[in-house]
Amino acid sequence: MSDPLNQSLTLPCGAVINNRLAKAAMTEGLATPKGVPTPELARLYGLWSDGGAGMLLSGNIQVDADHLERPGNVVIDREPDEAMRKALAAWAQAATRNGNHFWAQISHAGRQTQKNVNPHPKAPSAVKLGLPGGQFGDPVALTVAEIEEIVRRFGVCAAAVKEAGFTGVQVHAAHGYLLSQFLSPRSNQRTDQYGGELANRARPLLEAVATVRAAVGPDFPVAVKLNSADFQKGGFDFEDSLRVAEWLEQAGVDLIEISGGTYEQPKLLGVEGLEAVEQQNVAASTVAREAYFVDFALAMQKKVAIPLMVTGGFRRRDVMEQAITSGGADLVGIGRPMCVMTDAPAQLFKGLQELPRYEAQLSLLPPWLSFLGKIKTVKTMATFATQYWFYAQLDCLVKKGHAEPGMSVFAATRKLMALQNQLLKGRGA
Ligand SMILES: Cc1cc2nc3c(=O)[nH]c(=O)nc-3n(C[C@H](O)[C@H](O)[C@H](O)COP(=O)(O)O)c2cc1C
Repeated sequence: MSDPLNQSLTLPCGAVINNRLAKAAMTEGLATPKGVPTPELARLYGLWSDGGAGMLLSGNIQVDADHLERPGNVVIDREPDEAMRKALAAWAQAATRNGNHFWAQISHAGRQTQKNVNPHPKAPSAVKLGLPGGQFGDPVALTVAEIEEIVRRFGVCAAAVKEAGFTGVQVHAAHGYLLSQFLSPRSNQRTDQYGGELANRARPLLEAVATVRAAVGPDFPVAVKLNSADFQKGGFDFEDSLRVAEWLEQAGVDLIEISGGTYEQPKLLGVEGLEAVEQQNVAASTVAREAYFVDFALAMQKKVAIPLMVTGGFRRRDVMEQAITSGGADLVGIGRPMCVMTDAPAQLFKGLQELPRYEAQLSLLPPWLSFLGKIKTVKTMATFATQYWFYAQLDCLVKKGHAEPGMSVFAATRKLMALQNQLLKGRGA
């Protein structure tokens, strides 16, 4: 019988993806302090291109140098100069060397910009992120002119990556970044045309999509990463998500990637935040215990005809197959396993039944101190530190030539802090 994961997928724009496995977007931190892709970044994507996925998504590329999700993000905030053009082209060339797709994830971090990058980041409204620890600053509400400028830059960035040899783009409207902040009534308390009813809250996203489409033309894949829900009381919920998905379909989007959660409620990683998870109205299946958003995809697929990619928690091959054969997902996104096992898709095609669950073994605190995890600041720190472990693996892959899965979360955090400080110093230079 033919392998459901190894079938091609034709997108509405006509582009064809060779198989159903995609590397999910993972921030690399491998650009220069000024946001230019480095040879290390290209090397990493060469490894991933060799790894068998039909499509690779870049980590988020920022449209504003003052709103990084993390130092070391690639930044495209204007038409690229010659050096930037060359660096983007080298990255795209390495990332497509096996004939797979390589899409740029375009983003703006908004209030989820770290304080050491910007103590007063711009956001839909002056609503501070509800996390302890002082890692994030006090946001300032964007003016209408500033929103229009950000929307324009999504188009500039899309045109630049297309010219560089990327084969698609994804507008990042999930995980509590700027466009996702606009979608949520908790972080968007505006009373103008960008706030209030859902159609207004979705306006920046729809404007960004229209600008991007105009920049890349009709034959180039344009995708959106969207939350199934923020899973927070009074936040963007699944009903909202279904409506937005319909609007995205009408706007000519080629694929919606479904995820969920924010920094405050990190459901995307299968982790619970400080407040209770706001349950959503969706039929529950047993598969959802492993693949966090597969039930949402099944329900969304009844509303829209465009392809859906689902990311979050997929480790077992049979669950991936079920997601595809049930019609819920057209593409399966894989994230964390590929920070160590860069050829996870190829391994699955060779018959591997289950990918490693590194996250299950990671903890900042030794078992005898685990009670401290109940303290809100410690719990928040521990979630970030676990992420740093994955960042550290990417760094080892390109600088040492291999991952170091034996590294402790504590050692990874120290390593990441040092790398980050270097990048922060370079920003001012
Ligand atoms: C190290 C790391 C970096 C990430 N960076 C991004 C990013 O830049 N953009 C994004 O949309 N999601 C990002 N994510 C979320 C992943 O795309 C994905 O949604 C999440 O890891 C769940 O998939 P998994 O269970 O297969 O890891 C990141 C996750 C990890 C672990």
